[in-house]
Amino acid sequence: MSFVVSGAGLLPWRPHSESKSIKKLAKNHWRKTCRFHHFTQMANSGGGAVCNGNLHNHRKQSDGSQSGNYTENGTVKEAQQNGKPHIYKPFVEFFEEAPLHVMVFTYLGYGIGTLFGYLRDFMRNWGIEKCNAAVEREEQKDFVPLYQNFENFYTRNLYMRIRDNWNRPVCSAPGSLFDMLERVSDDYNWTFRYTGRIIKDVINMGSYNFLGMAARYDESMRTVKEVLEAYGVGVASTRHEMGTLDKHAELEDLVAKFLNVEAAMVFGMGFATNSMNIPALVGKGCLILSDELNHASLVLGARLSGATIRIFKHNNMQSLEKLLRDAVIYGQPRTRRAWKKILILVEGIYSMEGSIVRLPQIVALKKKYKAYLYIDEAHSIGSVGPTGRGVVEFFGMDPRDVDVYMGTFTKSFGSSGGYIAGRKDLVDYLRIHSHSAAYAVSMSPPIAEQIIRSMKLIMGLDGTTQGLQRVQQLAKNTRYFRQRLNEMGFIIYGNEESPVIPLLLYMPGKVAAFARHLLKRKIGVVVVGFPATPLAEARARFCISAAHTREQLDTVLEALDEMGDLLYLKYSRHRKSARPELYDETSFELED
Ligand SMILES: Cc1ncc(COP(=O)(O)O)c(C=O)c1O
Repeated sequence: MSFVVSGAGLLPWRPHSESKSIKKLAKNHWRKTCRFHHFTQMANSGGGAVCNGNLHNHRKQSDGSQSGNYTENGTVKEAQQNGKPHIYKPFVEFFEEAPLHVMVFTYLGYGIGTLFGYLRDFMRNWGIEKCNAAVEREEQKDFVPLYQNFENFYTRNLYMRIRDNWNRPVCSAPGSLFDMLERVSDDYNWTFRYTGRIIKDVINMGSYNFLGMAARYDESMRTVKEVLEAYGVGVASTRHEMGTLDKHAELEDLVAKFLNVEAAMVFGMGFATNSMNIPALVGKGCLILSDELNHASLVLGARLSGATIRIFKHNNMQSLEKLLRDAVIYGQPRTRRAWKKILILVEGIYSMEGSIVRLPQIVALKKKYKAYLYIDEAHSIGSVGPTGRGVVEFFGMDPRDVDVYMGTFTKSFGSSGGYIAGRKDLVDYLRIHSHSAAYAVSMSPPIAEQIIRSMKLIMGLDGTTQGLQRVQQLAKNTRYFRQRLNEMGFIIYGNEESPVIPLLLYMPGKVAAFARHLLKRKIGVVVVGFPATPLAEARARFCISAAHTREQLDTVLEALDEMGDLLYLKYSRHRKSARPELYDETSFELED
């Protein structure tokens, strides 16, 4: 099995308002974690560390505290923070390659599906088979087709056969258990009919409810109810006009405090936070360097900006550095003028891979080549780091190392919307220039209150350690689930600390069988395939929650064990993959 190790330690910063008990709990938790990974704590006198013949200098933080990392065979080890003993923080990622025969059968499966697709399209064309897909109106028969193009081939002929596994109507809160409406199809998934029955208490392994904050109403949500009563739901105006509420100001102050940055701005929709703010930051003559697995909202924002976009291989520092170097050396095409700005776009946790961004390396690169860094923490905020502050805390880095923080409230906070945070200049600029501030209605007040409530819980501002316990429970559940899947012999991807856990299924037939069988056992899973993943890497994507009990996880694991045998899914041979090796060769050192 391949793995990459790098690391960080305890958080170098923490909001003043945090209670002592929270600090203690977080510290103990990470001590335990470190023991679990057989890493030890040790005192360090500071100074440079020599590994593999390279000298890696310790970083002097501007607040006067000392911090240092050194690398060894791709290992980054936290050396010292705030004069305290340092802690080795493991960073372990797995990307095992499938055995050859699995790949052969997967492509064969798609090949056969494609052949039958052509045959059926031919029959539909000649009226031999009924065409259920959208068709052109009779009077537009000689127009270029609006719907029936080749891109729909995959949807029409493959996706339709297994469509029952997606868009299932849920009729409860997305807690660790949820209810689903039963539906059946009489025409091979072209249409569905509800039976009127409810499938109750399905174990929910697919919602992004990492900290269990999305739940049906209970007394802890009282303030949300009060805000609903006082403000209503709709704001009916944009932030620039009548839509800036005191609740928005309160939330923005809290987000800035949570992230330990100067300022933050919130938006009504996470997707629009990316797609509408990136164009406000870069434009023509600028260069965007985007990870190949970035979310569609980042891709759309990049395209809308008009900037030149270049893609680097997922989390691959060699690939990113080559693009940065070329950008600096050659400048813009034809004119060879320097790029106005270079913006690196990455995510904290990649939602299809379960991988965590290699932030220390990216920060080193961005400093070296004087580029800006925009990080989307949709999945990582609240879900990683000793106190849930995301990847900067996970790596024990300085929050000022990132230029633009973006995140959503739709996952760990059980709410809706997104934020941009960072320096006050940046946020002030976006308040004026962001399309989603100028032209979109602002965040609904009860939605804002739900975020405030959740964030205060995580920060311990409610006077309890409940929020922190959830962060720790999530980490525990994640490690347990990943470890058990590994032991069973499944190929799972991603970082061992990532609560997003992809389990590789590969073959399209198995994707459908997997989800259908599990639903029969009252386990709801998300399965994903092309175009969200590479064609031959269809997978199930589990999202672990702090709300999952050990009993629920064991029920799921037992079912997966049986499913793995039934469908021959235990492909792991604990072999090395080619992917991580590419990550490590760079010309830079971690600390500059
Ligand atoms: C990385 C990333 N960014 C942005 C978004 C969009 O956020 P939202 O669903 O809150 O609109 C998502 C959604 O899952 C995401 O995964």
